[in-house]
This record gives sequence, structure tokens and C-alpha cells, in this order.
Amino acid sequence: MDGLQGLAQPGLFVEEAQAGHSLEWSLEGDPAAALAALKALDPAGAVIGIGAPLAAALGRSVPGLRPFSPLEGPASMPATQRALWAFIPEQTAGAAFDRAEELDRQLAGPFSLVETLPLFRYRDGRDLTGYKDGTGNPPPEEQAEVAVIPEGPQAGGSFALVQRYVHFRERFNHLPEAQRDDIIGRRLSDNEEFDEAPETSHVKRTDQEGFDEPAFMLRRSMPWGDLKAHGLLFVAFVADLGVVDLVLRRMCGLLDEVPDSLLKYTQAETGAYYYCPPQKDGRLNLAGLL
Ligand code: HEM
Repeated sequence: MDGLQGLAQPGLFVEEAQAGHSLEWSLEGDPAAALAALKALDPAGAVIGIGAPLAAALGRSVPGLRPFSPLEGPASMPATQRALWAFIPEQTAGAAFDRAEELDRQLAGPFSLVETLPLFRYRDGRDLTGYKDGTGNPPPEEQAEVAVIPEGPQAGGSFALVQRYVHFRERFNHLPEAQRDDIIGRRLSDNEEFDEAPETSHVKRTDQEGFDEPAFMLRRSMPWGDLKAHGLLFVAFVADLGVVDLVLRRMCGLLDEVPDSLLKYTQAETGAYYYCPPQKDGRLNLAGLL
């Protein structure tokens, strides 16, 4: 295992989780009790993320961490920044539920649960639009370089963007396949990216090598929901929040007035940034909270 990857929370590197759970908490109690709960917490495979409101309440700062701000442009995204987040990649829905409940039990008191979202793998790793998600992810041997802070007091930590999207799936599925391919920028039939994809397509808007500096990120998004309400929990890990901020701005049309056409068929309902500290001896290493 790469040295940097060995410092990070192992949950970042779980490929092909079959099920999952995402939880967000607000800070309710005494900050000292919150810090004690975090120090004692056994993440056991979950990724734990600290939001700027929690760092501020603890009287600490994490360079590079800020609260998520709403984006308003031709397309918009809301901010629902919380104090604490957990992402549980698991192999069965039952195991994910048990882990979620156990984490909440360890954190209850200083933290109050705001969001609890069961996640699942759809077919062979597809989004509920039917398109394969994660193809453009870095290969395993490059993931730490993309997602993990390389040096300084936060070395081994990571930053996360978390957004719950609700899909207007019927509206999307109603479109002819060629039009759906134009919205995503890959072909449903063979998952190939095609050159003539419009500039408004999702893959063109998020093209990681289409920025002045490459905007590489490690995506671990998973579907959520039932027949009435469903979508994608978008999760991306980066070593620098500037990367995801830039891509979100381009999706919303804030860089060039061209919004991502996917955003006509899905809407972000939450949005938050978190600092995921390194892990040491099975506990979070909070030395990066200065
Ligand atoms: C509901 C929301 C979203 C859906 C359904 C979705 C779906 C997809 C799909 C199907 C692909 C093509 C396959 C792949 O490379 O994974 C893709 C690519 C990508 N998406 Fe998304 N995505 C969503 C939101 C986002 C957001 C919010 C971001 C950035 C913050 C993002 C960043 C990317 C990137 C970087 C790629 C790869 C582009 C490249 O090839 O360089 N996506 N997404």
C-alpha cells in the first residue's frame, strides 16, 4: 500500500461497494464532549468528515476547509452545510444499516442526526439514469495522489464534496436514447465517450483535463431511493476543494454561461464540504485541526 494511502481513512479506497449509508449530524451539545466523542470514535471502515461549522465550534481551523456556498447561475445548487458526515461503503444493506446505527450511537449526545440515507449499487455500477458512473475515475494506483493531502499537518487527510441529487427519471427516460447520450456525453450502448458530444453534455462540462490545471477527483457516488423519490448521492474526494468548486461552477454555467444539460433532469437538494482526517491505529488522527 502506498505510504499516503496508508495514512488515509481506508473507506476512501473501497471499490464496488454493493451497499452504503450516508449520515450527517449537526452539533447540539458541548464542543468539548463532541471532541471527546470524535477522539474515541471507531470508524471501522466508514469515512468520517468534519465540516467547517464543527471546526469553528471547536475553536480550530483546517487550512483549505470552508463551508459549502450556494451556487446561483443558469443552474443552481443549494448549500446545507452540516457539522459532521459519515459515508459507509459496505457489501450488504444490512451491514450498512448496522454500521450506521452503531456510529450514531457512538456520536449521540453532542451530535444530532439530520440526514440518514441508505445507498445501493445499481446493476454494474450505474447511476439511476442507466449510465455507468465512475468510468473516468483515476485507477487505484493513482487515487491517493488525487484524493489525499500530500504534506503538511493535514497529510493523509482528504476533502469531500457531498450532494444529494434527486432525479426526474421519468422525464429523462422519456427521451430518445441519442438525446440521452448527448446529455451524458457517453453512449448508453457501449459506454464510449464520443467526440461529437455537445459542449453542454455532462462529460464535456466535467472533463477533468479540460481546465488550465487538470481537475482530477475520486468519485464514490451511489444511488439512493425508492420508486417515488430517488437519485444519486454524489461523493467526491480531493486533496484541494478548489478542484470540485471549479467543476461545479462550470456545471452551473458560472464560467461561460453554458450549464450542464444533465441539471435539467436532476437537482441537488443538499451540498456540503468536509475534511476527512487521516486515521491512525483505528482512530481519527485529529492533529490537522489546528
Ligand atoms: C446527479 C448528478 C450526477 C450524475 C448522474 C453523474 C453521472 C456521471 C456519468 C454517467 C459520468 C460518465 C462516466 C464516468 O466517467 O463516470 C460522469 C462523469 C463525470 N462526472 Fe458526473 N454525475 C453527476 C454529478 C457530478 C458532479 C456534481 C460532479 C463534480 C463535482 C461530477 C463530476 C464528474 C466527472 C469529473 C466525470 C468524469 C469526466 C471525465 O471524463 O473527465 N459529476 N458523471
